[in-house]
Amino acid sequence: MPALFINLLQRENSMLLEMKNISKSFGAVKAVQNVSLSVDKVEIHGLLGENGAGKSTLMNVLGGILRQDSGEILIDGVEHNHLTPIKSGHLGIRFIHQELNLINDLKVFENLFLNNEMTRGGLYLNKKEMIRKSYEIFEKMNLDIDPLAYVRELDTSRKQLIEIAKALLFECRLIIMDEPTTALTNEEIESLFDIMRGLKAEGISCIYISHKMPELFSICDRYTVLRDGKFISSGNFSDINEQQATEMLVGRSMADDVVEKNDCIIDEDVFQVEDLTCEGFFNNINFSLKKGEIVAVTGLFGDGRGELSECLFGARKMTSGKIILKDNELNTRSIINVIRSGVSMVPRNRKERSILKDLSIKDNLSMSYFTSKQISPLISNRVENKRYEINRKTTNIKAGDPDDLITSLSGGNQQKVVFSRWFGLDSDVYILDNPTQGIDVGAKFEIYQLITKLAEQGKSVLVFSSEFPEIHKIADRCLVMYKGEINKEFSRNDLNEVDVMYYATGSNKKGEVHGK
Ligand SMILES: Nc1ncnc2c1ncn2[C@@H]1O[C@H](COP(=O)(O)OP(=O)(O)O)[C@@H](O)[C@H]1O
Ligand SMILES: [Mg+2]
Repeated sequence: MPALFINLLQRENSMLLEMKNISKSFGAVKAVQNVSLSVDKVEIHGLLGENGAGKSTLMNVLGGILRQDSGEILIDGVEHNHLTPIKSGHLGIRFIHQELNLINDLKVFENLFLNNEMTRGGLYLNKKEMIRKSYEIFEKMNLDIDPLAYVRELDTSRKQLIEIAKALLFECRLIIMDEPTTALTNEEIESLFDIMRGLKAEGISCIYISHKMPELFSICDRYTVLRDGKFISSGNFSDINEQQATEMLVGRSMADDVVEKNDCIIDEDVFQVEDLTCEGFFNNINFSLKKGEIVAVTGLFGDGRGELSECLFGARKMTSGKIILKDNELNTRSIINVIRSGVSMVPRNRKERSILKDLSIKDNLSMSYFTSKQISPLISNRVENKRYEINRKTTNIKAGDPDDLITSLSGGNQQKVVFSRWFGLDSDVYILDNPTQGIDVGAKFEIYQLITKLAEQGKSVLVFSSEFPEIHKIADRCLVMYKGEINKEFSRNDLNEVDVMYYATGSNKKGEVHGK
């Protein structure tokens, strides 16, 4: 009998899980509302939903990482409403997280046994045994990873596999996998699926979170679909097809409130991307932007879109390919050079990547001017105030004293400051990565107006976005990415959410489990 996996007796003792009417809010955000999910026999259960649907939150409740605001959790018929990670672990629930939780400065085997160290007599670490067990689990998983290597030396896909090994090392009855395949190669996905089938045969169920249709249809028995934090439906995969699954994911609605947009595209290629590849993230990306055109790039978690945006701005090294800006090859080796050549970027995740918390509103606005256009070594207060005043008016920043800290502003106004930062540079191309993230609806609309205004001034705009209503409002064209490739291009007239989601989930790659 395989020592590492659960013994066969537990086949009869498979976990019955019932989550009933679970709700969880973060402040005003209702992340999960009244959602129920059950696993009532040994199965691989697919949990589906778009970005932000509430999948991770629901699973964090089951893993004891978050406490639900209301609702019940029954395990084998017994109520466990106050789960903690330790209790959840004792019940045999293993959680493989979406974000990697490994410690780079420890060795592989030390990570595997972190918090569950094996000892001799409770006093000394039993390294030998831990290393032996590590070899054993990797062999079982068909992996050649050295338990003595440092985690920092491994690439992302190996790290993800170590997370999985960690879950398999200890007794478990239910494994939660939160988008585990994003960094895996095709062969690795194949062997993960083999492992999952093996576990199922041993009576261990799995909740598998993904939005990749070919994978879901090939490995899962039943599904539960969430949308906007709500339960939509559950059933057997064998009773639905990819199109139906996509429609449940997206729902019908919204779509129709399009922002008025003048046709201002001039037939002149300004920014051309040729065969751009960044190994491990995306391959052979080709597209071009015309003067006055707004192109949206969309997709789901793990599509390589974030890395693409970084490569275009020189913030990440490309493996091969080139970018042509107005007939000249763009040198992306330095960001300053990219900016001076005429490309601006508003990065995603404003709090982490774009504002400087300890600087004033005014200095935050002037920043890119200082680094790319300022000639005098001295900063003139008068000039800076004037620059602020002009931008405050054009972008409608609502602020008191420009010398106040940037953090005194609301998210929407902070983002207007970030936009203003780049407006003064009069670039040809504006790359906007998730420009309305964490901004309220009213301010979003103002940002859309700023974006369309840029296009009307003859700028080319590339917007990376995961929000369909936003894309629908502003984009002339939309590129849909799936697993590091452009899977489909839509023109403004053909855009609709179900079709975009159909390609973002790889539903067109029928029969190809891995879509490549
Ligand atoms: N710790 C948190 N604080 C505030 N909001 C959160 C937090 N975690 C998740 N959310 C919000 O809850 C919603 C659901 O998120 P999540 O469960 O991560 O979705 P999914 O895993 O389906 O992409 C999103 O709107 C997200 O922004
Ligand atoms: Mg998630």
